[in-house]
Amino acid sequence: MTVRALARVDLGAIQANTRRLRRALRDAQLCAVVKADGYGHGAVPAAGAALAGGATWLAVAAAQEARELRDAGIDDVPVLVLGALSPEELDVALAARADIAVWRPETVAAIAARGGGRVHVKLDTGMGRLGTRDPDAALRVAAAADAEPGVELVGAMTHFATADERGDAFFGEQLERFTAWAGHMRAVHPGIVVHAANSAATLRDPASHFDLVRTGVAIYGLDPFGEDPAPRDLRPALELSSWVAAVKPVAPGESAGYGRRFVAEHATHTATVPVGYGDGYRRAFTNNADVLVRGRRLPLVGTVSMDNITLDAGDPPVAAVGDEAVLLGSRGGERITAEELARRLGTINYEITCGLLPRVPRSHA
Ligand SMILES: Cc1ncc(COP(=O)(O)O)c(C=O)c1O
Repeated sequence: MTVRALARVDLGAIQANTRRLRRALRDAQLCAVVKADGYGHGAVPAAGAALAGGATWLAVAAAQEARELRDAGIDDVPVLVLGALSPEELDVALAARADIAVWRPETVAAIAARGGGRVHVKLDTGMGRLGTRDPDAALRVAAAADAEPGVELVGAMTHFATADERGDAFFGEQLERFTAWAGHMRAVHPGIVVHAANSAATLRDPASHFDLVRTGVAIYGLDPFGEDPAPRDLRPALELSSWVAAVKPVAPGESAGYGRRFVAEHATHTATVPVGYGDGYRRAFTNNADVLVRGRRLPLVGTVSMDNITLDAGDPPVAAVGDEAVLLGSRGGERITAEELARRLGTINYEITCGLLPRVPRSHA
């Protein structure tokens, strides 16, 4: 059966990307970040592939995401919840035996009151979101955790704001602040796991690796710098395809789609592909994307609707009903990457795969 749109996820690619990242590490372990349903790839299968590729930790943003991994039988791997947790979410995270990022003494006390758990103290070295900015306060939170029976102080962490911006000095400043604080932490709490690097930092600077790197985007074969992933030996894992459901002649002056944003200047044919913003293929691709049919790029013409797009298939038409239409992926020598789509939308590759909506079935192989 042809489905209207399908996201094929190549788990071998996730495994290979994880291996490739591990090769960039000396002694550090790799934590695969599978939040937001594995950046749209499916959290549980992505986690399985990353573990097969050598990841030894997993990270998510939300308590429920940790629960999902445990419910799927991922039992014997530490799962770190990176995000802030409400009291109810803290219950869920602890019940899932997740590690918790902490930066306030109140959270340590709340974990102790619930019977304990594993914590990582977070220093805000410049990201400006979660964590405390005060290194001494962070040391006090660590001491409080250490003093609570049942609470296990496992790690010390931070997060970079500009690791993906080449030549930027702020990354170095954050790294310096964190290195100094982590040194104090290690002196007082030997055996803790020190971690800071996301994908960009992992590829950019070995000094950021410490004991563990937290790589998300790169394990999916997306380039953390927004460039072509191929030269960095990253293999995109997600392909989005649909099919040509109608081909029709269009005479000069005839139009396609809402608002008549495409009016034919010469005789051509449109190919209608049943995918749209209701699938997460964004409306901003209106007159601003290509789709691969028979290994060729056909320009998307007219407005992206909720359920359909139209392509200019030329005259005579190079597409026929039933042809495969590849919106993200490669065929023959042609490639449409998440980085290309992101550039067209003025966004980042992360948002392209995370933006795929549940109406698109995922197939994992
Ligand atoms: C705290 C933290 N660590 C690591 C990551 C992984 O980042 P990336 O996907 O850029 O590798 C994220 C994701 O945004 C994060 O929020």
